[in-house]
Amino acid sequence: MALRPLDPFFFILSLFLLFPSPSLSDSTTQFCSAGSEYGGVSSTRILIKGGTVVNAHHQQLADVYVEDGIIVAVQPNIKVGDDEVTVLDATGKFVMPGGIDPHTHLAMEFMGTETIDDFFSGQAAALTGGTTMHIDFVIPVNGNLVAGFEAYENKSRNSCMDYGFHVAITKWDEGVSRDMEKLVKEKGINSFRFFLAYKGSLMVTDDLLLEGLKRCKSLGALAMVHAENGDAVFEGQKRMIELGITGPEGHALSRPPVLEGEATARAIRLARFVNTPLYVVHVMSVDAMDEIAKARKSGQKVIGEPVVSGLILDDHWLWDPDFTIASKYVMSPPIRPVGHGKALQDALSTGILQLVGTDHCTFNSTQKALGLDDFRKIPNGVNGLEERMHLIWDTMVGSGQISATDFVRITSTECARIFNIYPRKGAILAGSDADIIILNPNSSYVISSKSHHSRSDTNVYEGRKGKGKVEVTIAGGRIVWENEELKVVPGSGKYVGMPPFSYLFDGMEKSDANYLSSLRAPVNRVRTEAT
Ligand code: URP
Repeated sequence: MALRPLDPFFFILSLFLLFPSPSLSDSTTQFCSAGSEYGGVSSTRILIKGGTVVNAHHQQLADVYVEDGIIVAVQPNIKVGDDEVTVLDATGKFVMPGGIDPHTHLAMEFMGTETIDDFFSGQAAALTGGTTMHIDFVIPVNGNLVAGFEAYENKSRNSCMDYGFHVAITKWDEGVSRDMEKLVKEKGINSFRFFLAYKGSLMVTDDLLLEGLKRCKSLGALAMVHAENGDAVFEGQKRMIELGITGPEGHALSRPPVLEGEATARAIRLARFVNTPLYVVHVMSVDAMDEIAKARKSGQKVIGEPVVSGLILDDHWLWDPDFTIASKYVMSPPIRPVGHGKALQDALSTGILQLVGTDHCTFNSTQKALGLDDFRKIPNGVNGLEERMHLIWDTMVGSGQISATDFVRITSTECARIFNIYPRKGAILAGSDADIIILNPNSSYVISSKSHHSRSDTNVYEGRKGKGKVEVTIAGGRIVWENEELKVVPGSGKYVGMPPFSYLFDGMEKSDANYLSSLRAPVNRVRTEAT
């Protein structure tokens, strides 16, 4: 498409090239390419023909017609006048809702450095892998939630796909409680995260968690926990250093699955005591998964989120003699020994765990080298935002463990339901946002840091081959990934506010009333003179 100086896109691109954001590397402009009004190869009308349209509840052979960023029709043999309609042939391919990643950390300041992927580079990478929305974690500024939210509004200004926020709670006082209400009622926040690990920085104690759970319940916001026993992790780290174990393997040895199981069980029991739903982020071990399974079996509303690294990798990498290789696998909770990943896959396929995230939190090899002499200083985090959809399709659909409809449920729809934005997101239905992928089940790929779109110089899936490739990504009605070409524009992504009181809160008033009426009547004691 020819670019004329008066095209709005040309204008945006020129501004961007003249005044590049200091936080963007060369790769930002590398992704910008010719397009029209909305950036990217933007057609306001797109017809996807002949594919298998997959939703979480159903799949069918059908066409999908998109106008102005919204899906208008999903049915066989759609006919439209051919004026200005971009037609995509999806014969033999799957047409599915774009992925939604519930757990990312872009431009996050953490462990003395900042993640190498910011909102632009992380999202650009995500789009090439078929993810069209993510939910990132706002980290408060000195405990202040509103200041944290504003900082993340700034960080996300260059977004090229839709995104939402969870907000972390790192201290407790009246101001925090008030700000939680403000964020829920005015800013589209419906979830708050409590870190039970990272003693001395993000970690909260049980009294704070209890206050937070009560406040979440009253606001209809979902409480999320990073479940590891931070005090015991601290002790485990000291133990490793005393034993002279200072390399990346010390990371895994210092925080074994039992500490994840303990914290998961504790958070679940406290949420039960308060009677509020709970979401456990990055479930990495059988120990944690078993606690979630037990709670769900007893009727408690607990959501378990495994992440791709925990499902697919094992911890042998942490013992690699090359520090650069070993350190790239350092994340918390740690990647576990062989066996945990397959058990988590089984739990996902049977509904014990509900959705898949990435915990994309990337640091390059120079940043990881901050912990060359002490594993406690290796910035925690791995990549996955670009790889999640491909790896889950290849590992779980490709092996027959789950169906295409299950794939849509665990990578997109369930996230949209839990965070109360379904069916705007997470579905190919008339009226939904046009966030759509076309996946070719016969197309293959090899993952490498040489060709990935993240800014990191390493990739924890280096060399991995797979089948089932996202050939087209449509985000907000724009074709942003096609023919191996990424066409995105900084600033084109939208913040998606998420309303409180998702389906997880249904019936809560009745269960609270049942609890009250189940209490044995108090004793009316008559005071005598002696008492
Ligand atoms: O290692 C990790 N997971 N880094 C990101 C912060 C977190 O715990 O999610």
